[in-house]
Amino acid sequence: MEKFVELTQVSKHFDTKKGRFQALEGVNLSIAKGEFVTLIGHSGCGKSTVLNLIAGLLEASAGGLICNGREIDGPGPERGVVFQNHSLLPWMTCFGNVYLAVEKVFAGKESKAQLKARTEAALAMVGLSHATHKHPNEISGGMKQRVGIARALAMEPKVLLLDEPFGALDALTRAHLQDELLRIVGETQSTVVMVTHDVDEAVLLSDRIVMMTNGPAATVGDIVRVELPRPRDRLALANDPQYHAYRTAVLEFLYQRQQRPAA
Ligand SMILES: Nc1ncnc2c1ncn2[C@@H]1O[C@H](COP(=O)(O)OP(=O)(O)OP(=O)(O)O)[C@@H](O)[C@H]1O
Ligand SMILES: [Mg+2]
Repeated sequence: MEKFVELTQVSKHFDTKKGRFQALEGVNLSIAKGEFVTLIGHSGCGKSTVLNLIAGLLEASAGGLICNGREIDGPGPERGVVFQNHSLLPWMTCFGNVYLAVEKVFAGKESKAQLKARTEAALAMVGLSHATHKHPNEISGGMKQRVGIARALAMEPKVLLLDEPFGALDALTRAHLQDELLRIVGETQSTVVMVTHDVDEAVLLSDRIVMMTNGPAATVGDIVRVELPRPRDRLALANDPQYHAYRTAVLEFLYQRQQRPAA
């Protein structure tokens, strides 16, 4: 399959007051076009750092990152990001927050009415049509997260980078948005890199689950390829022995091979 995102021997350190902290070391990962990859690992192992490097928001200390045949050196419209802690502009409404991103990508190519329609469609997709004119301080944490998702989807990026996008949501909303994401990604054939803590979510959504070792100097520990046919149905999978085998493989990695580091 065609490689679309490629990380080669990527390392990242941070200079802190206590000296140099080596977060990642020697990360190699190659992601095919249209592939859905999740990153899983214990808190603090470096998942967000990997995602932010692909987003171009952080610069690698060593190694190379390529997206769509070009070296990554900064953010770009072909890579849409949903952050772990929703980052909406507080002085703008939900509509305004999404519209701003839509404008950045499609202004010049489309009319104002089309941009508005895109914005409304994205908000409808995440079930927020009723809240379009509310400001971030007037909506719940889960709703803010959904605005962030709508904003990224509305840009129709080639690569969708999601940092625990459903972490703050209740179980029902979470299941609904997972299904929506599966549907949207199925339709758009987007490449997705998603960070999650949730083993079931990882198995349900992924083509491959990248399991990271604990830091410092975290790296890719092992990869599980999930070969469950698509479209996937969460209810049918509940009784699928293959589904449970994948789940067990990830749990074993997290709780036997890479135990949670002492705080
Ligand atoms: N700007 C920074 N300066 C110093 N250290 C940092 C910085 N950003 C991240 N780190 C450290 O790098 C390591 C990896 O952080 P990262 O946020 O990538 O972890 P994570 O796997 O996303 O964790 P979580 O699951 O809790 O979100 C952590 O030890 C963190 O403290
Ligand atoms: Mg994180």
